[in-house]
Amino acid sequence: MKHLRSIDELGVDGLRRLLDLSDHMAEINRRPVPKVPALRNKTVVSLFFEDSTRTRLSFETAAKRLSADTMSFSVGTSSVNKGESLRDTIETVAAMGVDAFVVRHKSSGVPWQISRWTEASVVNAGDGWHEHPTQAILDCYTVRTALNRPEGFDGMHIAIVGDIKHSRVARSNVWAFASLGARITLVAPHTLLPPSLEGWPVDVVHNIDDIIDRVDVLYMLRMQRERMHEALVPSLREYTAQFGLTPGRADRLQSHALVMHPGPMNRGVEMAVDPGELPGSVITQQVTNGVSVRMAVLFDLLGSGSALVGEASS
Ligand code: NCD
Repeated sequence: MKHLRSIDELGVDGLRRLLDLSDHMAEINRRPVPKVPALRNKTVVSLFFEDSTRTRLSFETAAKRLSADTMSFSVGTSSVNKGESLRDTIETVAAMGVDAFVVRHKSSGVPWQISRWTEASVVNAGDGWHEHPTQAILDCYTVRTALNRPEGFDGMHIAIVGDIKHSRVARSNVWAFASLGARITLVAPHTLLPPSLEGWPVDVVHNIDDIIDRVDVLYMLRMQRERMHEALVPSLREYTAQFGLTPGRADRLQSHALVMHPGPMNRGVEMAVDPGELPGSVITQQVTNGVSVRMAVLFDLLGSGSALVGEASS
């Protein structure tokens, strides 16, 4: 694998390989010194043209635990503000010697463009409304470990609730969950669905109460208010009443059901309960697992066959 730009490009075999590799990385992360020399002398650059807390820190932590050198680029303090083009920025940073770019950008397709301008590997950390493949892999890893389903998700029912239209997480997760065998239901008002769902392996319902007591995983999405240029819901209060996870709805979940959210959460909007009080919430595990999964991705892209992941830490 040279790049990780979409779940489709990864394919189901690649997904399974990364999930297995994530188990090794999780084992490293449980050690007293969670660090291995696997990517020594490799350089990983994070290029974030859009805001991020957890994804950027997660990739940087993952790179450091594999002993890679890291560089971080924030658009707010860069020459982009002096009018430098994306291509010039990439070529300038690449000239310093870079093995992988981790890229987040508000425009769909930017990771593909960048991979035409550099020899380095490119990891998509979120491009516009399009894809967020490492989020999907860490979510599959979280479901697989929390429900103890290493062989796959056959027979599992996953509901993805909320602002599907603007969600790169939904676009990546639908394909990843479905390729592992899960049945997926999207739950949203018409205005928060993409104009066409042709070819998506999903069912759609418009009433969360129709399915909440039957799902194995309830995946809540953030209302992406920064991407909405018109009123797509009558009011946030009404949205919560119709689609939010309220205490009454949480009580109707099956006892084994997981509650997930990619973060950042809008408390009181889609999450009208304190996730800390939900026995099925794995939202914190998603963040923890994100580091192991991103270690697996970086190792898969940059590690040499001889760098044994399980070897003693330095
Ligand atoms: C998501 C993103 O940025 O796409 N967050 C994340 O990466 N953890 C989801 C979101 O912003 O709602």
